[in-house]
Amino acid sequence: EIKIATNEDKEKVREFLQKFFYKDEPLNLYLGLITDENPRCMDLERFTLKDMDNGVNLLAEQNGKLIGVCLNGTFERGKMENFECTDAKFSKIVSLLDYVATESDPFKIYPGIDKAMTVKILSVDGSFRGKGIAKDLMIKTRELARQKGCGFITVDCTSHYTACAAKKLGFKLHYTLNYEDYKVDGKTVFRPAHPHKELTVYTQRII
Ligand code: ACO
Repeated sequence: EIKIATNEDKEKVREFLQKFFYKDEPLNLYLGLITDENPRCMDLERFTLKDMDNGVNLLAEQNGKLIGVCLNGTFERGKMENFECTDAKFSKIVSLLDYVATESDPFKIYPGIDKAMTVKILSVDGSFRGKGIAKDLMIKTRELARQKGCGFITVDCTSHYTACAAKKLGFKLHYTLNYEDYKVDGKTVFRPAHPHKELTVYTQRII
């Protein structure tokens, strides 16, 4: 069952992401954002949970148990989100996402469309992965995007598996950044584990 999240789900979602995203999203994992000594990253929690009741965040449940989360947002042409962050490690990810947003700007391939849906955070319970739950959440997101009058849907895939899901759903590859090639002060910032060698942006026109 897939349902729309509300503010009341915030703590449940935080606990879920603590287990199945904050630690094991490939870039978080590589940076060691969450450790035994530093079990919480408040900036990352703020970043992920800030718009919980925007009406387009989705929860996948089985017999009342939360097994997947897909946090989405709508955004408009020319308006870039600015997230203020002080955590030294998480700032690296925010800078990467800002860089990709500027470089890739999917609105440029959709002239005439001014509103889009973006999949920001996808997370599935470790023991339910590989069963199509991420794909189901993205299909539902696409339906919501249509209802909200979005002209396309876009997803920044930091994980190779999110890219596989987008591809399977017919999304088109719009942009690729090899982690190896993303450098700050001449040094590569991210070297996540195989098979996560690149950040890709997949988009799909709606209608
Ligand atoms: N090994 C190989 N392939 C895999 C694996 C795996 N461990 N897990 C998923 N896949 C493939 C699937 O085969 C499928 O590809 P296909 O359609 O070509 O067969 C594709 O990835 C998606 O499969 P789903 O079953 O729909 O994905 P799942 O429910 O397992 O969720 C997710 C994928 C969300 C990436 C999950 O692995 C996860 O929670 N990872 C940790 C957090 C994370 O990295 N989130 C994504 C970051 S990017 C973002 O948030 C936008």
